[in-house]
Amino acid sequence: MQDHSYSRIGRREFLGTAAAATGFMMIKPELVRGTAANSAVRLGILGCGGRGTAVGTGFVANTTARVTALADLFPDRLEAAQKNFDEKQKAKGYAAIDPSQLFKGPKAYEQILASKEVDTVLISSPPYFHPYHLEMAIAAGKHAYCEKPVAVDVPGAKRVMEIGKKASGKMSLAVGFQIRKAPPYVELVRRIHGGALGKIGCGLAYYYCPHIDLRDWPDASAAEKRLRNWVWYRSLSGDIIVEQNVHVIDICNWILQAHPLKAVGSGSRKLRQDAGDAYDNFNLVFTYPNDVQVSFGSTQFDKHAFDAAVRFFGTRGSCEAHYDHRMSIAGEEAWDAGLGKAQTGTQFSASGSFAGALDQADSEKQKSFVESITSGKFINEAAHGADSALTAMLGRNAAYRGKPLTWDELLKSKETYDPKIDINKL
Ligand SMILES: NC(=O)c1ccc[n+]([C@@H]2O[C@H](COP(=O)([O-])OP(=O)(O)OC[C@H]3O[C@@H](n4cnc5c(N)ncnc54)[C@H](O)[C@@H]3O)[C@@H](O)[C@H]2O)c1
Repeated sequence: MQDHSYSRIGRREFLGTAAAATGFMMIKPELVRGTAANSAVRLGILGCGGRGTAVGTGFVANTTARVTALADLFPDRLEAAQKNFDEKQKAKGYAAIDPSQLFKGPKAYEQILASKEVDTVLISSPPYFHPYHLEMAIAAGKHAYCEKPVAVDVPGAKRVMEIGKKASGKMSLAVGFQIRKAPPYVELVRRIHGGALGKIGCGLAYYYCPHIDLRDWPDASAAEKRLRNWVWYRSLSGDIIVEQNVHVIDICNWILQAHPLKAVGSGSRKLRQDAGDAYDNFNLVFTYPNDVQVSFGSTQFDKHAFDAAVRFFGTRGSCEAHYDHRMSIAGEEAWDAGLGKAQTGTQFSASGSFAGALDQADSEKQKSFVESITSGKFINEAAHGADSALTAMLGRNAAYRGKPLTWDELLKSKETYDPKIDINKL
């Protein structure tokens, strides 16, 4: 999954090479205080909502990266993000974001990607835009951290694979599956790959999430309301399985080191009363190679308790791994991650703050991304990101059509999702 082809190049040579190849610029020394001038990665954030702000704030707190530019379709989101980053960066002794580096409106993505004050971009716009925003970012020579899912449809995921090939060896391209960097999960998977479960027979993955509150935008047009509340619309989000549940699906692919060959099951919009057309539950069986069946369930309605987890069962033991404190292996190589107390409450996943197994997921992800850039050992997670998005689409499309769907059939899909929103007219 990772491309370390530049690993032999020393840091000084790397900075020269990357600057020539990609337009990578070192931060101006006068903007930097407290750390070596040439170690700072200048981050632009494309899509300054909840996740963009949280991850950007994490980059500032956990790495040497500085947020030097912001872009959003809507001025209110841009202003809130500017306030946040100016406060956070001031506390670290950094300069305020230059007003010339604040971009809003439908062309904001072009402007931030053309900025000479940005060498790395965080793509945290709604999923529908990801393939295009990522393609433009790589074409502009920027390192990219693209939030999951990389796409909402099969052509989009295939496009991301092609974009990954273009970036390979020249730029770092990360995808927002931070759980793969969470130390307890890394240790669990290391043990499983080392044989702690023996031969795996079957598994279980679920993502039971309560309803996520829909915000009201009283003065907005119908199209703007849809875009602002993109999570509720399949064409913008990919549906709950692709947008949200993809995290546990990605863990299954990681543990089994494969994607499924087939999915069968159902899904529906049974209890949710809110706007949009996203389903509120999926119930599926994924068939992985060697006939390993993984049953999968998800919800997104009402006020029930949050729980997301995977379980696998093998000849030597079984494992249980939740987002919270519960992570263990039972059997011949018993192990407990020792993560402490349970977290209660229903909305913690929606707020993006997790206690327990994921405590260090984001900070480790951010550190490794910046390290990949400053060391020149560029990472490339495009293929992995597309593979996991496609796995979620396999389940989604099987449920939509109500009969089994194979991986090969899925890949033939030419269906493109179209939210029918002209962002130039908002
Ligand atoms: N990895 C994780 O754990 C995690 C957690 C939450 C969200 N996410 C992902 O992050 C992404 C963003 O989610 P969010 O919760 O921050 O949503 P959000 O609605 O809070 O933020 C999206 C932002 O993008 C802006 N935007 C919309 N269209 C745009 C365009 N064409 N150009 C520029 N800006 C545009 C919106 O105005 C908004 O500010 C999604 O892909 C989501 O799946 C990942």
